[in-house]
Amino acid sequence: MPILSPLQQARLGYKPRLPEVFRIPIENIGVALSETAEPIADQSRLRELFPLTYGAPIARFIEGANTSPSKSRRIGVVLSGGQAPGGHNVIAGIFDASKRANPESRLFGFRNGPIGIVEGRLLEITPELIDAHRNTGGFDIIGSGRTKIETAEQFEASLATCKTHALDGIVIIGGDDSNTNAAFLAEWFKKKGSDISVIGCPKTIDGDLKNQYIEASFGFDTATKTYSELIGNIAKDANSAKKYWHFIRLMGRSASHIALECALKTHSNICIISEEVRARNMSLDQVVDSIAGVIAARAARDENFGVVLIPEGLIEFIPEIGRLIAELNGLLAREAEYFATIKDFEDSREWVNHELSKDSSYVFSSLPRQIQMQLLDDRDPHGNVQVSRIETERLLIELIDARLTKMALAKEYGGKFSALAHFFGYEGRCAFPSNFDANYCYGLGFSAYLLLSAGLTGYIANLRNLHLDADDWMPGGIPLTMMMNMERRGGELRAVIRKALVELNGAPFKAFAKSRERWALETCYAYPGPIQYYGDKKISEELTSTLKLEKEAFEKD
Ligand code: FBP
Repeated sequence: MPILSPLQQARLGYKPRLPEVFRIPIENIGVALSETAEPIADQSRLRELFPLTYGAPIARFIEGANTSPSKSRRIGVVLSGGQAPGGHNVIAGIFDASKRANPESRLFGFRNGPIGIVEGRLLEITPELIDAHRNTGGFDIIGSGRTKIETAEQFEASLATCKTHALDGIVIIGGDDSNTNAAFLAEWFKKKGSDISVIGCPKTIDGDLKNQYIEASFGFDTATKTYSELIGNIAKDANSAKKYWHFIRLMGRSASHIALECALKTHSNICIISEEVRARNMSLDQVVDSIAGVIAARAARDENFGVVLIPEGLIEFIPEIGRLIAELNGLLAREAEYFATIKDFEDSREWVNHELSKDSSYVFSSLPRQIQMQLLDDRDPHGNVQVSRIETERLLIELIDARLTKMALAKEYGGKFSALAHFFGYEGRCAFPSNFDANYCYGLGFSAYLLLSAGLTGYIANLRNLHLDADDWMPGGIPLTMMMNMERRGGELRAVIRKALVELNGAPFKAFAKSRERWALETCYAYPGPIQYYGDKKISEELTSTLKLEKEAFEKD
């Protein structure tokens, strides 16, 4: 038996707070179905692609008669993609709801992500197993993985697994891509005459799986609190020693939600927002100029220190580099076999430079060698460059150092620049879920079970009114097709769930834009401190600034 820390022991005993409607007996929870819900774009194409699941109604759970039989059900659950705090609680929610409905129900976890469905590898979630994982971070209860279920063979194999194990339904806990796959799988099962339900759950620390109905993806709350604690500590150190500029890259893939939230929480001197860089068509030089300008202005006030937040996806959002990466992705996919034969980096650099367009070759050549190597590194399963491996913070430090040297020669800068690079990513993905995430995920598990038991398929579980107390959250589900649109991916137009990037006219960005000049020049850091799991609810259940600001703006409209 592993030795548990005191906090581990305490968290195992935490009872997540459920919305009021989930606290009554399951036979009294009814489902209210509203009029059919359609996506906001590409309706006719999506209707063609999803003839059997398109246009289903929005579901909401209310007090009323539960018309689904309380039969014993066999359910499968999978954790897909990057870890996000709270995944174990979704499984606990499904487990408890299904046992409450019928103690004979059984829950199975697919091992190591979607590949477990395709290959039929599963293990039963027993009471002992789930009790050892309640309110803990990580996906280690069953493991996770990034395999995509997207080919006819994989769909067929998945159906065969579900039939072999006599499953009534499966729950896919994942981000936009995994939920897109869930939508296709639901349609496939129906087409094959199966009534096995497929239900999704919104997971990702990146915060980019959201809309009017999915107010937040789970994990964002805990991850941003974890990073903000670290950033606050670093800011305190910077303000004490007064000699370092800290460049901190933050995970989040394409979207800058994590960086923005951390800036709102800590008042870092600078936070680059990738979506703004793209919207303003800024070059790498301009990004460097803007940061160097702040460093020089602070140096003039004798403040040769500061904190810069950099979203992980920045590099792809600088239009000239974005074009270079797109070309590289295409080239390396087309010429994968030949490229694999080139062993020496100098040779691969020469070959790539020769194959790229003139503009991209120029941009590629202007980058430091280390970044060139990272850009040519392994692709992810979708053929994309893995942004979490590109050390943008080091690139910026190098370029800014050179810029400041020039500025010093021109007498435009008289400070000292000593910079340290950090990357916060994996540190935040498996923390103990905050009370918000623990409650939210447990409720999502209940919603997922109830959607499935109501015989619905092709839905994603949700809880709305997240800005209110957990008692007042409004559980239900929305059809996955409602969140989809057509996008060009890998050269083809595909139906996918739209990734929600930071909106420049959204309340969180506006709040940041209003204060950023002051935060840049003055030293007015806020120190969030560690996540609090016990005590005053104002602290232990504090919402993200993103959620608060979005909700306030929504209510004003
Ligand atoms: P998901 O989109 O699957 O939730 O993953 C999020 C993420 O943490 C990104 O922020 C990051 O870029 C990526 O995973 C890292 O992937 P990996 O875990 O494969 O290194």
